[in-house]
Formats: sequence, C-alpha cells, structure tokens
Amino acid sequence: MVSRIAVTRTLPPLGEQMLDEMEASGAYALRRWRNDLPPDPASLSDLLADADGAITLLTEKMNGQVFDRYPNLKVVSNLAVGHDNIDIAAATERGIAVCNTPGVLTDATADLAFALLMATARRLPEAQRYVRDDQWKTWSPTLLLGQELTGATVGVVGFGRIGREFARRATGFRMRILAFDLFPDQAAADEIGATFVSLDQLLAESDFVSLHCTLTEETTHLIDAAALARMKPTAILINAARGPVVDTDALVAALRNGTIWAAGLDVTDPEPIRSDHPLANLENCLVVPHIASGTIATRNAMARIAIENCVAVLTGKPPVACVNPEVLA
Ligand code: DGY
Repeated sequence: MVSRIAVTRTLPPLGEQMLDEMEASGAYALRRWRNDLPPDPASLSDLLADADGAITLLTEKMNGQVFDRYPNLKVVSNLAVGHDNIDIAAATERGIAVCNTPGVLTDATADLAFALLMATARRLPEAQRYVRDDQWKTWSPTLLLGQELTGATVGVVGFGRIGREFARRATGFRMRILAFDLFPDQAAADEIGATFVSLDQLLAESDFVSLHCTLTEETTHLIDAAALARMKPTAILINAARGPVVDTDALVAALRNGTIWAAGLDVTDPEPIRSDHPLANLENCLVVPHIASGTIATRNAMARIAIENCVAVLTGKPPVACVNPEVLA
C-alpha cells in the first residue's frame, strides 16, 4: 500500500534527492510544499489531508486540534531536535509518533553559539561597520575594546548534548565552567570539568551565560528581569536555545541600561524579528536568524534522519529518534 507523506518545506539537497527517489519508487505519494516559506493554513491543510506521515519544521504548530483534522496521521517527523512546536501529549493520546533529529546538529549548534560569544565579546559586528563606514583613521589603544575570553567564567544553562559541546569548546579557552540543569548529569560535568551550581550562582559569577535548555513551561522566561539583574554588568548572554527562554522586553531594557554588556542571539521571541525591532538595532546585540544548525553537512543529516524516521514509523520499523516511543510499543 502506498504511504502518503506531507512535506512542509523545501528540504536541504540530500532530503530533496531522497524524496525524489521515494516518489520515483512508487511506494510513496508525497505532497511537497516546495517553498522556503511555511505553507499558509489552507495550503498546510491541503498537504496534510489524508497524510499518513508528515515531515514538519519548527514553524508548524501541531496540536490536538490539528491532529483531529487529520486522523490518518501516524507520525510527525520534525526536522529539528527541538519539538516545542508539537503538543507531545496530544500526539501520544492519539497514538501519533513524534520524531526528531538529535545528535547530528550538536557540533554545528555549539559552534555557532561559540561564534556568537566570540563575536559579541570582541565586538565584531561593530568593528565591521566601523571599517565599512570609513571611520578607521588610525590604530588606537582605546578602539572597540572587548571582553577577554581566555580564563573567563562561563555559565552553561542546560547541560545536555549541545550545552556540553559548547562547554568543551570553552575548555580550549581555559575557561572555568559553571553549569545549571534541572536534571544534572554529574558524570558528563566531571568529564568536561564543569561544576553544577544553582542558577543564581551561575548568573552572578559568570562572565558569559550561554543558554542551551529546551523550551518548556519551566524554562519559559527563565531569563527575566530579575535573572538579568543578577548578572555582571560586563556579562554577555548567548541564546542558541529558544527565544522564549528569555523575556525579550527585559533583555532589551538590560542591554539599553547597561545591566549586562551584550547579547548574541540565534533565536528571538517573537521569531522572526524585523529590522525595526529593538534587538536588531542595539549596538550591543548581535542577532542571527536561527542558523545554529545551518551547515550543509548538518542540514543534510537532519533531512536524512527526518525522512528515515517518517519512513521507519510508516513501515513498522524503529525510527532513529522518537520523542514518545511508547506509542510504537
Ligand atoms: C532545532 O533543531 O531544534 C533547531 O532549532 C533547528 O536546528
């Protein structure tokens, strides 16, 4: 029997190639949204009608109401490690498997978070603008002074796969590493030389705070005005997790009034932001458009796993990664 799979975006090249081959095999009927922007609600509805499986992105909100409209759905395979766009309890109740792409994006995401740290600490966006605006007149001992990375204290909030790899990169800069996690893995901390502390201690003692936790009710606005006030005025906040982990208004105020020194953001709340948003205009804030996993190799690997997960569930095989494996038992 032919399985019907909805694909809600143009995938990275390997993914498109795999989908072409699946279509050519005749074993799958694909409905593909070949576009770099998300489908509007009517188009999403057309894509999902009668679908047995869906390959989705973090922009697609998949909740109980959506699932009830498409009773054939057996699997929602997210092309992301994060799955906060999907109501897992609602999927589980309806026996729908939710799959994701952990592991393959760990290094790329940790790299980008570290790049944000280096760029904000050394004020690279400002420095580039300085040259482009022809302000570079001479060498100056006071020009664009930044924060020292080597030997600094870094606080890693969320010490899972990505947080740990970020921390490992920090060891190359001989940083002292503090970590906070709701479910601390002591062996992992010992391996990297990190020390688990309370969030308050981490915020107070860190020169740099990097967020790597998943977005849940508990982590929404984890970094609010009070948390920012605990940080050093010279501190830098990095967010490559999810925008709502940080209270945006509180962050804008903290960057404006010098409560903290700078921020480097791969994610924002809301997302996307436009060029007139305060975060896009503050000299001490570097924002990039949610590209942490965006290397060719990583995005191809994510596409491969997302497709393999979907096909595995539809053919009764174990997927590479499933968030609610109990529905497959
Ligand atoms: C994820 O995978 O959750 C990212 O945010 C996109 O790579």
